[in-house]
Amino acid sequence: MQVLIIGGAGYIGSHVVNTCCDKHCAVTVFDNLSSGFRENVDPRATLIIGDIMRIDNLEKAFAQKPDVVIHLAAHKDAGESMHKPEKYSHNNISGTINILAKMVEHKTPFIIFSSSAAVYGSPEYLPIDENHPLNPENYYGFTKLEIERLLFWYSKLKGIRYAALRYFNAAGYGSPRNVEKNPGNLLPIIMEVAAGKRKDVKVYGNDYDTPDGTGVRDYIHVLDLADAHYRAMEYVQTHGTDLVVNLSTEKGLSVLELIRKTEEITGKKIPYEITPRRPGDPATVVASAKLAHQLLGWKPQHSDSDEIIRSMWDVYKSKV
Ligand SMILES: NC(=O)c1ccc[n+]([C@@H]2O[C@H](COP(=O)([O-])OP(=O)(O)OC[C@H]3O[C@@H](n4cnc5c(N)ncnc54)[C@H](O)[C@@H]3O)[C@@H](O)[C@H]2O)c1
Repeated sequence: MQVLIIGGAGYIGSHVVNTCCDKHCAVTVFDNLSSGFRENVDPRATLIIGDIMRIDNLEKAFAQKPDVVIHLAAHKDAGESMHKPEKYSHNNISGTINILAKMVEHKTPFIIFSSSAAVYGSPEYLPIDENHPLNPENYYGFTKLEIERLLFWYSKLKGIRYAALRYFNAAGYGSPRNVEKNPGNLLPIIMEVAAGKRKDVKVYGNDYDTPDGTGVRDYIHVLDLADAHYRAMEYVQTHGTDLVVNLSTEKGLSVLELIRKTEEITGKKIPYEITPRRPGDPATVVASAKLAHQLLGWKPQHSDSDEIIRSMWDVYKSKV
């Protein structure tokens, strides 16, 4: 099977590339390396450097006649999206429209899309399931929801079947690769502190209604995400129907728990500073993955906190 993985040089995408290569797919990676790295790309895959904003660049990728597109390319900083919405409209929404136009032109039948927990906004109940209201609270989440809606219409009007995979907090590493510069997510920040690159971790609020007062989130190992992509690809091809599922563990970990566990595993002290809450941060976000289990037979196998933290430390202690 020919698989075109757009954004395959990035953190999650490069793990998806490994899994698809292991499953003997012929993989082409298309990436502009704006946040990804050439070295992340599995040598079994072909890398094409190009931008989804440039139709002529995309033509090179579609010349390989992919059977399936896996689309992970996006800007993903929710905070930045509130100050620079145009940047997010262009890259995330217009970029996806370009990809869909090429898929229509080349009659590519399937797309697997990286959606996000951000489409839900603040939880109205827990665990969040796929029927939860969709009320993004940042522009990034809005772009992901708009893309899901585009996919729905392209499926209806053009017959392109899709899977929208709503990832919760991606974490962990499958094998050594480059790490994100200036990370915004908690675990990479904790790792940078453990590795001595950063002084401390800012803990945004310790007065939430959670067991230790700090925010609780649902962390999912990238190896489990990669496995779900492969299963989703098989699902849409076999059933010829669309799929929208959460990828999560239904278990929450608080900020302080993660700090303590990282101290245990790394043997390093992780200094932290309690600062005021950030506007719009809910106390707890955990999500049900029952639907992904039912439809894909998928269950997280690598997402316990020890495995996540150990795998990250293995990479950060040598890379940072
Ligand atoms: N990391 C998370 O916790 C998380 C959670 C939910 C959803 N997501 C989504 O998953 C996807 C991958 O996230 P990631 O954490 O691996 O991020 P990442 O930044 O490591 O990967 C994105 C990749 O897309 C490439 N890219 C961006 N714009 C491009 C363009 N215009 N043309 C070509 N390539 C482009 C980047 O160079 C990078 O390699 C994103 O769509 C993100 O929104 C991530």
